[in-house]
Amino acid sequence: MPRKLLLRALAGQVTERPPVWLMRQAGRYLPEYRAVRRKTGGFLELCYDPEHAEEVTLQPIRRFDFDAAILFSDILVVPDALGADVGFYEGEGPRLTPLAHRSDFARLSTEHLHTHLAPVYETLRRLHRSLPETVTLIGFAGAPWTLAAYMVEGGGSKDYAVARKFARAEPRLFGDLIDLLVKSIVQYCEAQVAAGAEAIQLFDSWAGVLPPDERERWVTAPLARIVAELRERCPGIPIIVFPRGVGPALVEVVAAVRPDGVGIDTAIDPAWAAEALPGDLCLQGNLDPMALVVGGDGMLRAADRILEAWAGRPFIFNLGHGVVPETPPEHVAQLLQHLKSREK
Ligand code: CP3
Repeated sequence: MPRKLLLRALAGQVTERPPVWLMRQAGRYLPEYRAVRRKTGGFLELCYDPEHAEEVTLQPIRRFDFDAAILFSDILVVPDALGADVGFYEGEGPRLTPLAHRSDFARLSTEHLHTHLAPVYETLRRLHRSLPETVTLIGFAGAPWTLAAYMVEGGGSKDYAVARKFARAEPRLFGDLIDLLVKSIVQYCEAQVAAGAEAIQLFDSWAGVLPPDERERWVTAPLARIVAELRERCPGIPIIVFPRGVGPALVEVVAAVRPDGVGIDTAIDPAWAAEALPGDLCLQGNLDPMALVVGGDGMLRAADRILEAWAGRPFIFNLGHGVVPETPPEHVAQLLQHLKSREK
């Protein structure tokens, strides 16, 4: 059995208290993050700056005593490395050169993947040295469907209609893109593990926009391939998948993908998840980020509902989606104090 609390939960152990970390625990809600951002210029520049990326990864760890640190980076560094020309613009989110024609796809290449992502690996090596020994270092990648959706759409979207149409109209070409992403994500995650990542989370943030047959093809099957391949290359490294928005289909996604942990999003009833998903599977979630914004007793009661629903099984306390910028840091402190005070 591993010693770190979070790794024990991922190994299927019921822990003395649930380990806790929060998606987007580093970010604009922290004044010290905003100060680093002002100093370093663009957001992507920060992702490729090991010294400052290490610093912002550590900021929430210093403040809040989380059980895990997640590498500070973004899921879109992989499309960027493949040649998708990713840019982040103030107040409007990411923009990429949209892929539309065969020639756009032909320009993508894995040739420079590792050289482009070398600063990310350096950030992990630094964190491996600097993190307290009880804290688990989590690496991550975007899942193929979510990355492909951003790449075809050329940015964020409410329903990814352009990407969904493209996947139906040009399934061969879209399938080639998914295959390229599967291969790149496996290589990227393997290199993250070599650099010190102790667990990997795969974010499929837009899994929920697809109907069942398309989801099986573009979400479930590619995730299953990545998990199987990574297990072979990195034995013993736990993998958490976060297929956000798939609802009750979580049951079949988890059965096909066989991850060590599964992210439960905000819309799912934690009691349903406890009933429907295998008892030895580590659940992770699922406090509403808005409960954290509002704080107080309502937040603590919402947290208690999760703790009660998942008592007696392995789980990691987290949000159902990322921390939002207007979150008061004091509410995070209050939540952690509440969770840690229950330690037996
Ligand atoms: O969780 C962490 O603390 C680690 C860092 C992390 C970021 N993004 C930092 C970030 C992680 C794990 C991500 C994942 C990510 N990025 C996802 C999957 C999770 C999810 O939210 O569903 C997605 C879809 C992205 C793509 C992305 N990055 C968008 C759509 C945006 C713009 C929206 C926004 O909040 O500004 C980003 C930017 C981003 N990624 C920021 C941070 C801290 C804010 C950028 C800034 O500092 O201005």
